[in-house]
Amino acid sequence: MTKQELRNLLEEMSLEEKIDQMNQLAGGFFTEDSVITGPMAEMGITEENISLTGSVLGLSGAALLKEIQKKYMEKHPHKIPLLFMMDIINGFKTIFPIPLGQGATFEPELSGRLARIAAREASASGLHVTFSPMADLVRDARWGRVMESTGEDPYLNSLFTEAMVKGYQGEDLREEGSIAACVKHFAGYGAPDAGRDYNTVELSSHSLREFYLPAYEAGICAGSALVMTSFNTIEGVPATGNRHLMRKILREEMGFDGVLISDWAAIEEMIFHGYCRNRKDAALRAARAGVDIDMMAGIYSENFRKLVQSGEISMELIDESVMRILELKNKLGLFENPYKDADEQKEKEVILCREHRTLAREAARKSFVLLKNEEILPLDKKKKTAYIGPYTERRNLMGSWSLTGDEKDIATLKEAVMNSALGENAVFCCGSPMLDNDVSLEGFQDCIKEEIPREEQERMLAKAEETARNAEIVVMALGEDRLQSGEATSRADIQIPGIQQELFERVCRVNHQVIVVLFCGRPLDIRKIAEKAKGILVAWLPGTEGAGAITDVLSGDYSPCGKLPMSFPYCVGQVPVHYNEYATGRPHVPGKDKDRFRSKYLDIPNTPLYPFGYGLSYTEFSISPVELSSSSMTRQGQITASVMVRNTGNVKGTETVQMYIHDIAASVVRPVKELKSFLKVTLEPGEEQKVSFAITDRELRFLSENGIWESELGEFEVFIGGSSATENAAVFSLTL
Ligand code: GLC
Repeated sequence: MTKQELRNLLEEMSLEEKIDQMNQLAGGFFTEDSVITGPMAEMGITEENISLTGSVLGLSGAALLKEIQKKYMEKHPHKIPLLFMMDIINGFKTIFPIPLGQGATFEPELSGRLARIAAREASASGLHVTFSPMADLVRDARWGRVMESTGEDPYLNSLFTEAMVKGYQGEDLREEGSIAACVKHFAGYGAPDAGRDYNTVELSSHSLREFYLPAYEAGICAGSALVMTSFNTIEGVPATGNRHLMRKILREEMGFDGVLISDWAAIEEMIFHGYCRNRKDAALRAARAGVDIDMMAGIYSENFRKLVQSGEISMELIDESVMRILELKNKLGLFENPYKDADEQKEKEVILCREHRTLAREAARKSFVLLKNEEILPLDKKKKTAYIGPYTERRNLMGSWSLTGDEKDIATLKEAVMNSALGENAVFCCGSPMLDNDVSLEGFQDCIKEEIPREEQERMLAKAEETARNAEIVVMALGEDRLQSGEATSRADIQIPGIQQELFERVCRVNHQVIVVLFCGRPLDIRKIAEKAKGILVAWLPGTEGAGAITDVLSGDYSPCGKLPMSFPYCVGQVPVHYNEYATGRPHVPGKDKDRFRSKYLDIPNTPLYPFGYGLSYTEFSISPVELSSSSMTRQGQITASVMVRNTGNVKGTETVQMYIHDIAASVVRPVKELKSFLKVTLEPGEEQKVSFAITDRELRFLSENGIWESELGEFEVFIGGSSATENAAVFSLTL
């Protein structure tokens, strides 16, 4: 349709039609087997609301969605098609590593390819929109939703958000295999007080803009068709009704002109926040903030007619939102073809096809981070190896947001090992239940209530000890359960479950050759593991091909190269911890950190156990001192910072060379380091390569005291190394 035809359609629509275009319902109103991803409330939805609603979330399947669309269109007065939306966070049916694991690849373009695959599978199943990418910056491992982010760095998050948006949307939303992206959760949702989900967010405007907004903006600049509001307040006002945040920052400053959708019932939650007196007030505030779609609160449908009649809401305000929704449907080509790519035959061809599984396995391999290796990895296939832990036979290796993934498509670690060269000398033993008896968990479609009597646990532990005693090497597959991360899963204790810790201790007592493969949706406190394990490989929640990818790494067929996108804290008491902190007036001085009047803890170090950007490989790399093309530059000029990277080990490997900049003195304090660029280099043993980074004015700009992004004259340090802990630096000046 042309813009004029859309305008004509808008004029023909009744008020009810317009109001219900702004209403989104869960699929349960159209069928009984949709995925409910938020709290159900009394919504007072009528049959008319259902027949006129603009979009549906939580349903998939070509045949089902075609049938629903057909029936809906037959009844709709103006044949306006339904939008079908769903959370496709890390794959549709072919499930990829959780986004935090994708962040560890330091390969945004790979995540772009994964997003494309997810879009191909989802669109063939009838979907038009995904509620992804999550662009929330995270620093607090207690918050369970860190698993949906790509970590603690604004620059890295921006690259991943941009790549995912482009992957989902392609060049044109009408293209086969394209779905609309939805950047979320705007804004600052990743900074809840005390790491408790849905809690208050207290951010200065400066921090919000310097650290938290860049990745959302990158997604919007990449053309994201939707943005989702966040549950939290920003400066005391719930985001969903926050006109400054949504009208001034999102629409005016960032230029977003797409569809703004609330999070699940977030409009109603403004009442519980104490910001709105009642549902009518909530409808008014959200509409004035420019929220176009009410997800599952039913508040717009219930109150807009009254608000229009009373003159509290103008028709212009409603028309503005409805037009954006119609434009989105038009960009997807739904007026010409309301079924878009929904096709049962296509579904069968693309879902879980070999190409998709192959890329999923590549992504999983690249997501793994080797934290420790005391010459114990890769495994010696000739040695008798015991695989012990609840993850040896756990089939579901998917993140908790994998709503449509199916564990029947996944191999267990035991199956993968037996299907590899490692199987010859392998024995297996669960050793313990996943969780302690006092833990019960709920997911979106499954829940856990494991009750294993102590004597049964004791029997499992004893068997594990015996198995370990009779092995030369032990690979322990441990970690938090998949349902211990994701939405509403904040944890005050971020260690592995106690029963698994007991298993680990008992195995280490009888065998000192222990490797831990750690499954997690967040950085964990793994101090006790690091003290005794000789090897630690973080596998995150690696998805459909995760187990095979793990055997690729354990066997040495693939040398791990992942880098931490989020710091692993020394312990939970250190949280939030992140590399790009401010120096403070008592900055880190080597050897002085434990002096009395320093910014320190009495009982733990300041530094995380493993820092952002850290990760080992099966070889070693040397990085030469930083060489600069000049010691000064003007704003119009540039400096090239170079190092020689050499593979000093005896196997091929990949290093992610990272460049950080520190603005030594500025009109507002600056982080001690900021990631500005990185490059992955793959080198044969003995091979070396020059790696150069260009430093221009762009890399030096920051949010100054003038409230604008600008550089300031003065001295800068440039660091180049294999993690954020590098001290390999040189100094240059920005001059007139
Ligand atoms: C949830 C989440 C959001 C998700 C939405 C729809 O509450 O906060 O990320 O996209 O509901 O499932």
